[in-house]
Amino acid sequence: MATEQEKLDYSEPIEVSDGIYWLGFYDENAAFHSNPYLIKDGDEVVIIDPAGITEYPQVASKIFSIIKPSQVSHIILHHQDPDLCAAVPMLENAVGNKDLKLVTHSRASVLIHYYGVKSDFYLVDKNDYSLTLKSGRRLKFMTTPFMHFPAAIVTYDETSKILFSSDIFGAISKDWSLYASEGYQEKMSVFHKGYMPSNKFLSAFIEKIEPLDIDMILPQHGSIIKGDMVPKCMDFLKTLEVGLDLASSDEELYGWIPKA
Ligand SMILES: [Fe+2]
Ligand SMILES: [Fe+2]
Repeated sequence: MATEQEKLDYSEPIEVSDGIYWLGFYDENAAFHSNPYLIKDGDEVVIIDPAGITEYPQVASKIFSIIKPSQVSHIILHHQDPDLCAAVPMLENAVGNKDLKLVTHSRASVLIHYYGVKSDFYLVDKNDYSLTLKSGRRLKFMTTPFMHFPAAIVTYDETSKILFSSDIFGAISKDWSLYASEGYQEKMSVFHKGYMPSNKFLSAFIEKIEPLDIDMILPQHGSIIKGDMVPKCMDFLKTLEVGLDLASSDEELYGWIPKA
């Protein structure tokens, strides 16, 4: 498994926990990076928030360097945004598994339909907000209302104690590394101020995950959070003012985007 001390090759999949891989695409000229992940569990493979079309070639080559296409049993889509869903039809074709399931909330499935996906949905709200893999490993889902979609969800893997947090805990910055270190809070702040509605929803989400035993947080943007950065980042977001807490004008609401 990858450690901070190692020189990491971002052009390769990186195993960040036992059988859990980061599949992201690192562009040193971009401030906005996406982080797809893969869970390999015996013969089954779960891909989490796969990719947009522009990043699909790199993500697909990473996926299929680790596993056989037909092993992909589930694709988790935490909400319907194009940066995680747009490449799903291409991925479905590459996987070629007629039993492939798209795991999402029913409210998001209505919109994901419009990407032209063809697999059956596994709707978390109709399945007790959990998915049990063949091995018995259980993935639990939680809604994160209006963060930043009404029925957005996150995934908690009971085996690894990892929270796949989608956009929450994400960050935006040209200064990027795979693992978050002190100062990551400010990069999260920029992203959350622009994408999240208000602290009312953000603090409610943090209170929801506080009872969980969390070893690592794997967001869809920004850096992986582990060690003492987990409580530090949770505490930081719990009181952070975002969105409408700060904005009294369009300038304030949308002017957060960093200058290139
Ligand atoms: Fe999003
Ligand atoms: Fe996103």
